[in-house]
Amino acid sequence: MSDQSSTLHDSIDDAWMSESKQFRLLLNSVTDYAIYMLDATGHIQTWNHGGERVKGYTRDEVIGSHFSRFYEPADVEAGLPQRELDAAKQQGRYSSEGWRVRKDGSRFFASVAIDPIWSDGKLVGFAKVTRDVTDKRNAQRQLEEAQASLLQAQKLEAVGKLTLGLAHDFNNLLAVVINALDLIAIRVNDDPRVTRNVEAALRAAERGALLTRQLLTFGRGQNLVAQPLDVNRSIQDLNDLMRRSCPENVELAFDLAPNLPFVEVDKPQFEAAVLNAVVNSRDAMPSGGRIVITSALRKVADPTDTGASKKDMVCVSVADNGSGIPLEIQERVFEPFFTTKEIGKGSGLGLSQIFGFAKQSGGHATLSSTPGQGTTVVICLPLSVQHA
Ligand SMILES: Nc1ncnc2c1ncn2[C@@H]1O[C@H](COP(=O)(O)OP(=O)(O)OP(=O)(O)O)[C@@H](O)[C@H]1O
Ligand SMILES: [Mg+2]
Repeated sequence: MSDQSSTLHDSIDDAWMSESKQFRLLLNSVTDYAIYMLDATGHIQTWNHGGERVKGYTRDEVIGSHFSRFYEPADVEAGLPQRELDAAKQQGRYSSEGWRVRKDGSRFFASVAIDPIWSDGKLVGFAKVTRDVTDKRNAQRQLEEAQASLLQAQKLEAVGKLTLGLAHDFNNLLAVVINALDLIAIRVNDDPRVTRNVEAALRAAERGALLTRQLLTFGRGQNLVAQPLDVNRSIQDLNDLMRRSCPENVELAFDLAPNLPFVEVDKPQFEAAVLNAVVNSRDAMPSGGRIVITSALRKVADPTDTGASKKDMVCVSVADNGSGIPLEIQERVFEPFFTTKEIGKGSGLGLSQIFGFAKQSGGHATLSSTPGQGTTVVICLPLSVQHA
């Protein structure tokens, strides 16, 4: 009888031993997850290989220490570790995602689950599972950014098509108006009052025609005449016009890289783009400031095309230390007709022209702005094959 009972005990012990051994083996073979137990106050009781892999600490380094050591100092200060334990205790389970710190001080984005462990109605500790999801989070981020820039590009494309139709019709109407005004001017040239009015009407119609040309550039309906162009030379040619466009309290400075390769673009459109950017900078500095125009050869990729590889481009930037653009409207400034200026002061087409011209020339335009500090517009253009 006693023999039988001791055999039974041995086999139960064996089974128990092997079960706990198997369990330990199982825990330690999981290397993607840090799985460990805490006592009721948050001190670490067990540790697995996954813990070492995810957080960098060996078993001896962490057993007995408080689990808040894995949190960022600001989170510890804000009482996050204890709050998470309290939440697990109250809700029966707690899961969250957030930044944690490895032994070497590097950060990783963690997905965390905490389960309270009860024995006879008393809380005896917590089971905690942590997984490093940094790669997944980065991939998700990149996907979201790509989707956002695709959406923005599609929106601009759609607005471009719409404006293109309108601009064509408008251009034809303006051509009729301008021709008629020209004829009237010839017939009434002996009456100075009428002549003055006709001239004013002509100037307005020509300004309208200029605007529609900018619209056509944005909508890619304008046939650009690409020719090899030395951007530094073009900028120098524009110098007088730019200076005349700016009041005395606005300083114009240049930082042009020597010996730049030629680009292949439409010259008048390039000059219009630089002038549009300079005029925007001027308008952003009503009490004066500094505009710096630079040119440089750079290796860049189209920021709206996530798959694009970097290539050599000549980039011209116009930077100011003016008011900057409020964050909430930065996304919209390239849209045609988007303006914050009062009626008559701005038509909202300057940046659309810059964007459309750069895109249509096989390049791209970007804008960066810090409210209160200034704005930089960068136009990157492909190199001329003929002059490579
Ligand atoms: N350098 C800049 N600094 C501050 N805000 C700017 C700057 N450039 C553009 N903006 C903002 O972007 C808006 C759109 O600019 P955009 O050049 O397209 O049109 P606009 O200057 O208002 O009119 P237009 O150029 O057709 O006369 C501006 O109204 C302004 O609010
Ligand atoms: Mg403008």
